[in-house]
Amino acid sequence: MSSITRIGLLVACTFAAVPAFAADPVTSGMRLVATCANCHGTDGVSANGEFETLPGRSKVELLAKLHAYRDGNLPSTIMQQLMKGYSAEELELIAAYLENEPRPRKK
Ligand code: HEC
Repeated sequence: MSSITRIGLLVACTFAAVPAFAADPVTSGMRLVATCANCHGTDGVSANGEFETLPGRSKVELLAKLHAYRDGNLPSTIMQQLMKGYSAEELELIAAYLENEPRPRKK
C-alpha cells in the first residue's frame, strides 16, 4: 500500500468516526426530540394531560429518568422499550435540548 493510499484511508476513517450529531447539538437534539411528539405532544405538553410536560425541565432530572427507563430501573409501559434504542450520547442531546426549551403554559 502506498503511503498516499494509507493517508487517504486514515483521513476517511477519521471523518467516518465523527458522529453526525457532533456538528450541531441543538439541531440534533431537536430532531431526536421530534419523535417524542407522538405521545408527549408537539410542544411537549400532551393533549390529554396524561404525560408530564417535558420542555424546561432540568437536564439532570430528565437524564436520570431516561437512563433509568433504559436500564430497566424505572418500571414503565412504553418508555423502557423506547429508550433502549438511544445511545447515552443521544439521551444527553435530548435532555440538553429539552432543558433549554421554554416551558409551555399549562393547557
Ligand atoms: C409511544 C409513546 C411515547 C413516546 C414516542 C415517548 N414517550 Fe415518554 N412516556 C410515554 C409514557 C406512556 C410515559 C409514562 C411511563 C410509561 O408507562 O412508559 C412516558 C414518560 C416519560 C417521561 C417521564 C415523565 C415523568 O416525569 O414522569 C419522560 C421524561 C419521557 N417520557 C420522555 C420522553 C422523551 C424524551 C421521548 C422522545 C425521545 C419520549 N418520552 C417519547 C410515552 C412515550
